[in-house]
Amino acid sequence: MTTWTPSTWRDREAKHQPEWPDDGELDQAEKMLGQMPPLVFAGEARNLTSQLARVAAGQAFLLQAGDCAESFDSSADSIRDKLRVILQMAVVLTYSGGLPVVKVGRIAGQFAKPRSSATETQGDTELPSFLGQIVNDTGFTESERRPDAQRLLTAYNRAASTLNLLRAFTRGGYADLSQINTWNREFVASSPAGERYAQMADEIDRALRFMHACGIDGERVPAIREVDFFTSHEALLLNYEQALTRQDSLTGDWYDCSAHMLWVGERTRQVGGAHVEFLRGVENPLGCKVGPTVTPADVIDICESLNPNRVPGRLTLITRQGSENVRTNLPPLLAAVRDSGHPVVWACDPMHGNTYTAPNGRKTRHFDSVLEEISGFFAAHREEGTWPGGIHVELTGDSVTECVGGGDGIDEDALDEAYETMCDPRLNGRQSVDLAFMVADMLHSRG
Ligand code: PEP
Ligand code: CO
Repeated sequence: MTTWTPSTWRDREAKHQPEWPDDGELDQAEKMLGQMPPLVFAGEARNLTSQLARVAAGQAFLLQAGDCAESFDSSADSIRDKLRVILQMAVVLTYSGGLPVVKVGRIAGQFAKPRSSATETQGDTELPSFLGQIVNDTGFTESERRPDAQRLLTAYNRAASTLNLLRAFTRGGYADLSQINTWNREFVASSPAGERYAQMADEIDRALRFMHACGIDGERVPAIREVDFFTSHEALLLNYEQALTRQDSLTGDWYDCSAHMLWVGERTRQVGGAHVEFLRGVENPLGCKVGPTVTPADVIDICESLNPNRVPGRLTLITRQGSENVRTNLPPLLAAVRDSGHPVVWACDPMHGNTYTAPNGRKTRHFDSVLEEISGFFAAHREEGTWPGGIHVELTGDSVTECVGGGDGIDEDALDEAYETMCDPRLNGRQSVDLAFMVADMLHSRG
């Protein structure tokens, strides 16, 4: 294998890159990004790798969650609410599932989207597809759809301000366990998930008061007051990722400092392609999506390419097989990786294999299919004696109607009420917490 540098990906085929209309503008943006401070530090990425190593060993559970495509216009409230839902899910999984939960957001950098078609046609007009706000905009006009390299800098700035807010919330008291009752506003007391959540919050409250009386409190035990929350996104735009890659002064290793964890998508995971080439050289923990066309041999190739030294926690395989395929497709993949001895985290993305178009034209996912894929994921792991390490979901804290089903019984006709996503349909806050209780039950009964 050739020696890796941050730019060796440029000699490989890079799929799903925008057609930047002006190379000079792109160069200029890359140069400016190269001078910006890193968004995350190498030591934080190493910390996440060691937390994920515990997941790989079956001693913890991974919750990776957040937006499909973040917006440059997200308000502080919307960022806070997204964090709140993820923390609520994590508390449910920790308390009812009985395991430490590693929390990773699809946040503070999830701006680029691969699209099945490079162009979109409306009437007689054909324009470039919307590729995420790091590239162009949603409106269907020539100027909005023109890839604009200035947006790489806006993305960096939005990621920095989002991350700053997340650090403030997770270190500054908002995530204090004694606050979990105040996170409850999302639910009306009468909803079943709301009642269950309120009861759990009361039990945790009582336990904290007991611990406090015994002399154990947030002053002495920071884990009660603060949470470790990590960022991640799909490493799709390699010019952006390369420009934020830095050599760690302590170890001499390279880190992509745009996020703690990066993943390669289903459409760009070719071994020998530019995305795998870039990611193999950075020391961050990595993810790789694996969809229904992947073979056991492909999965082993991915493990060998991205984690040749077999470092536990380095590689998370995120399966997205679809609820109808998971029970047959997943076991041979699990068996192959188990037999190869590669230490991976297995996470279930129950969203991307279960998207369909409702009669009114809205792209949606049914809550029951999401649940069914996770249930099949647990069953496959039980069959193969491997650890169902985590889930990877698209959600928002906003009260949207994008996925059907769940406790509120959103039906296909209701999708238009609050359909706000810029890309794929997301679970809303209630559907997310509902799901967390159900996954916690699966974890618990796995016992
Ligand atoms: C995504 O996670 O938003 C995505 C595009 O997924 P996949 O690569 O699995 O299709
Ligand atoms: Co998506």
